[in-house]
Amino acid sequence: MKKVVLAYSGGLDTSCIVRWLRERSYEVICFVADLGQGLGKGEDFEAIEQRALAAGASKVYIKDLQDEFISDFIFPALKANAVYEGKYLLATALGRPLIAKYLVEIAHKEKAEAVAHGCTGKGNDQVRLEVAVGILDPKLEIIAPVREWEFKSRDEEIEYAIKHNIPIDVTKKKPYSIDRNIWGISIEAGVLENLEQEPPEDAYMITKSPVNTASYPKYIEITFAKGIPVKIDGKTFKAKNLITCLNELGGQLGVGRSDMVENRLVGIKSREIYEAPAATILHIAHKELEALVLDRELAHFKEMISLKYAELVYYGLWFSSLKEALDGFIEKTQKLVSGTIKLKLSKGTCVAVSRKSNNSLYKKELSTYGKEDKFDQKLTNGFIKLFALPHQK
Ligand code: ARG
Repeated sequence: MKKVVLAYSGGLDTSCIVRWLRERSYEVICFVADLGQGLGKGEDFEAIEQRALAAGASKVYIKDLQDEFISDFIFPALKANAVYEGKYLLATALGRPLIAKYLVEIAHKEKAEAVAHGCTGKGNDQVRLEVAVGILDPKLEIIAPVREWEFKSRDEEIEYAIKHNIPIDVTKKKPYSIDRNIWGISIEAGVLENLEQEPPEDAYMITKSPVNTASYPKYIEITFAKGIPVKIDGKTFKAKNLITCLNELGGQLGVGRSDMVENRLVGIKSREIYEAPAATILHIAHKELEALVLDRELAHFKEMISLKYAELVYYGLWFSSLKEALDGFIEKTQKLVSGTIKLKLSKGTCVAVSRKSNNSLYKKELSTYGKEDKFDQKLTNGFIKLFALPHQK
């Protein structure tokens, strides 16, 4: 029997895949990645394991990858200010290369010749997983049952699951397609496919509607050390707790929602909504701190790098040499990104209201309009003439 390692979520699709692969004479080993999809409330991994075994898996690996996800994927993207098409903070996209890494690792350990996943043929995630697996071990076969199997609808899958005693929870049929991890939630399909319709409140899971939040603002201070968030209000937090805490806090105040039409790698435009309270807060604070400590040329150049970085993450090119090279550049820029940003959170908004850093390049004696002014205004006369020179006909 050939062995395959399946990226298993516990949902209907991947549960049917276990059986489907068994029918094609594969021994199926399930791998469940914990990227914080329980969002602080915990996910029932025991139930997921039982379901995998009941569906026919010979073995189940459950790995808590949250710390690695944060340190090796989320924080590098935060340092890079990576945002796709101005709105998407890349939670789903950042998780895929990590899942791929462990699919390959487990395949090697189990001497499996193939890996499998439950992505459809229309999305970005299939690309991200397969490109990453292909870079890490081009010899592994990749099976994507959803792209080729006979089921035409969710109902047909449910019928198949019932026929084969696969224990799935069909009662809580969700009207959306949802992907979650500690960095954020991606929600698509259902009524969201109608561009003219505002997303209904029930589409959001971790953020309150901004109109229903407290009428008074909340202030918080985020402290960064070399580009990494380390403290909230002066108190040191472990990375995972810091993000969980900001998700909770931001969610309560309606911070971190976005609604967009994005360009998928496969060429389709799609309507997606996102909830990412902690990611939103941290991106705003991080950029604000950089505005203080990076010199103008470096800051402007870094903006271009951010765009490219986000695109590489979105396209699934995490393990590419370009992405690695850009990390080298970004790491260098973060040397001075230490300091504290105070934010005001209110009614779905998050804005910086105060900033301080020992590495600040702000010089009050130069920028002031008061009497302590040290700036020699006579110098600019010649400067402007020379600056304009090449543009004069
Ligand atoms: N469009 C986003 C991306 O490509 C999210 C896709 C997440 N999948 C889902 N089932 N909602 O990263």
